[in-house]
Amino acid sequence: MKLPDEIDCVLFDAKAIADRVGELGRFIDIAYAGKGLVAIGVLKGAFIFTADLVRKINVPVEIDFVELASYMVDTKRSGEIVLEQDVEIKIKGRDILIIEDIVDTGLTTRFLIDHINIQEPASVEVCTLLYKPARQRVDVPLSYVGFEIDDVFAVGYGLDYGGKYRNLPDIVSLTSAS
Ligand code: IMP
Repeated sequence: MKLPDEIDCVLFDAKAIADRVGELGRFIDIAYAGKGLVAIGVLKGAFIFTADLVRKINVPVEIDFVELASYMVDTKRSGEIVLEQDVEIKIKGRDILIIEDIVDTGLTTRFLIDHINIQEPASVEVCTLLYKPARQRVDVPLSYVGFEIDDVFAVGYGLDYGGKYRNLPDIVSLTSAS
């Protein structure tokens, strides 16, 4: 696939992503052995990661999605988070694994953890594909991290910029946004 001109470099190619997703699946299998879990994918960015990760999990897993909008000006967060679509699965007493595309400031993930905790789950953990430690503004416990990245704007493998690039098989950084 030809990459658009505004792409700076490939951060993680499809093979590296697949290998890491397989590793994360094995860690999750060990952690949830004998009990299973409810995986909650955060739309839209985590749709591909969720689909790939759950197929690497062998313990019983129920899957649901939540859609959150985190409003942006250019590539920066405004801080306003809106719950666009809630989960349908009953959370109370369940072991919940939130599946995120990226933790940037951490505000979106913090919002979702708080929203789920109100519903009294047995446990809540977070698995994120990407994590930008330099940008983090609030404390979020991250049990599983695919890759740590610098303060660049990443797209591909589900992540977008202005609705574009979600379908790229690799994760790449954008020149115009960094
Ligand atoms: P946070 O609330 O600042 O952690 O931002 C989380 C959301 O911001 C993610 O779910 C993404 O939708 C978006 N986001 C943050 N950084 C990036 C990036 O580098 N590429 C694409 N989306 C991003």
